[in-house]
Amino acid sequence: MNSELRTSGSAAAELRSANSFTIMAAVTAAMGGLLFGYDTGVISGALLFLSSSFALSTEMQGVVTSAVLAGACLASGFGGWLADLFGRRIVMLNLALFFIIGALLSALAESVDALLLGRFLIGMCIGIVSFVAPLYIAEIAPPRHRGKLVSLNQLAITIGILVSYIVDTAFAAEGSWRWMLGLGAVPGILLAIGMAYLPESPRWLLKCGRDTEAADVLKQVHGSTDVIAEIADIKADLALEGDTIGWRQLLGPTFRRPMLLGVGLAIFQQITGINTVIYYAPIIFQSAGYKSATAAILAAAGVGVINVAFTILALRIVDGAGRRALLLVGTSGMAVSLLVLAGGFAFGSALPGFQWLAIVSLMAYVAFFAIGLGPVFWLLISEIFPLTMRGRAMGVATIANWGFNLLVALTFLQLLQSYGPAATFTLYALLSIVGWFFAYRLVPETKGLSLEAIERFWMEGRPIRQWH
Ligand code: BGC
Repeated sequence: MNSELRTSGSAAAELRSANSFTIMAAVTAAMGGLLFGYDTGVISGALLFLSSSFALSTEMQGVVTSAVLAGACLASGFGGWLADLFGRRIVMLNLALFFIIGALLSALAESVDALLLGRFLIGMCIGIVSFVAPLYIAEIAPPRHRGKLVSLNQLAITIGILVSYIVDTAFAAEGSWRWMLGLGAVPGILLAIGMAYLPESPRWLLKCGRDTEAADVLKQVHGSTDVIAEIADIKADLALEGDTIGWRQLLGPTFRRPMLLGVGLAIFQQITGINTVIYYAPIIFQSAGYKSATAAILAAAGVGVINVAFTILALRIVDGAGRRALLLVGTSGMAVSLLVLAGGFAFGSALPGFQWLAIVSLMAYVAFFAIGLGPVFWLLISEIFPLTMRGRAMGVATIANWGFNLLVALTFLQLLQSYGPAATFTLYALLSIVGWFFAYRLVPETKGLSLEAIERFWMEGRPIRQWH
């Protein structure tokens, strides 16, 4: 039974899957991830110069930094509703335009208010694109390749962060914060052009009764004309959902498990502290004894490179090793590296080898995030929700993700000051251990299963041990 459900369409069609059309679609949608990474990463380098141009107080620096996160939290709330109502493609296309406007607004800002408006608008776009891009890719990808195609989005996030560090460094000498912020328009333009040519998600089209268009897209995806079985599978699923799936059902007994899973993973992805490193790497390295600015910049670049490299590894193995294995290895590795780092700060910060220990354990922590919670959270939330409510349910998980991102960003420096690095990193280590248990108990293995099979397993109330 499982193997029957595991893939839709004929086996031959599956073999020819992940053809160049599907890869193009995934790479284009992943431009959304690039914007996500670039626009969250760029502010660290630009802030110094923004502060002198606009005479920003420390408090206002915090406001400028958090404007993006606040916009993202707010917009994830209604972005899912837009994606379910108007379609994934139209939402992505409009987002691309708003990204361009936001980048230009912030780059040309003559006042703090204009800057805040631009950054807030970009934040809203990031909040929505962060889940609509993986959603679109998941709905277009063949099951066997879905893990790596959706994770392309996470790879693009990490590349965006790295590129933002490089751009910041390149323009730092002249202090041109306008170029730093304005260059965000480039991936926006690429996304707009790409989405103008790509088709709508076949699953969303079927939900709207646009069967012929959906069949055309599925034929392109599989490079085959044999899509009848897959269409029948999706339609059977929609019939099972009926007209009745709404918020009440999502919180009811059948779909409570995926809701809890999505929101829980969203929270663990953030409260285990990844963005303390992404946003504040130089500060952490300074407290470990690297005092020069060059060392701080190199450290940030090193974090960026490790993040990209291990995300590539995750992408290569996620469809083979599976989501569960990556999550369990990832969270346990994060916990161990954080404990080593905290131990170093607690007992050995005066010893000569400590600076190396700090670098190695911090890099290991980023590497374990990059193979586990980083890509797997966004991948799983694109897979586990029922089609009718998929956008809205992903939106809820995404609000939790951005909300806790904001919370960690606002509290980290305070924690560091009040309790010191050893206690702060021990806290994130303990939360990683709780995250491991959460994943162990609740995460089913979704590799190779069609989205329709996943939905049916929830409806049957199948225990996660029996998914494979
Ligand atoms: C997270 C971001 C984080 C990034 C780092 C993403 O999956 O959602 O908060 O900055 O990974 O690579």
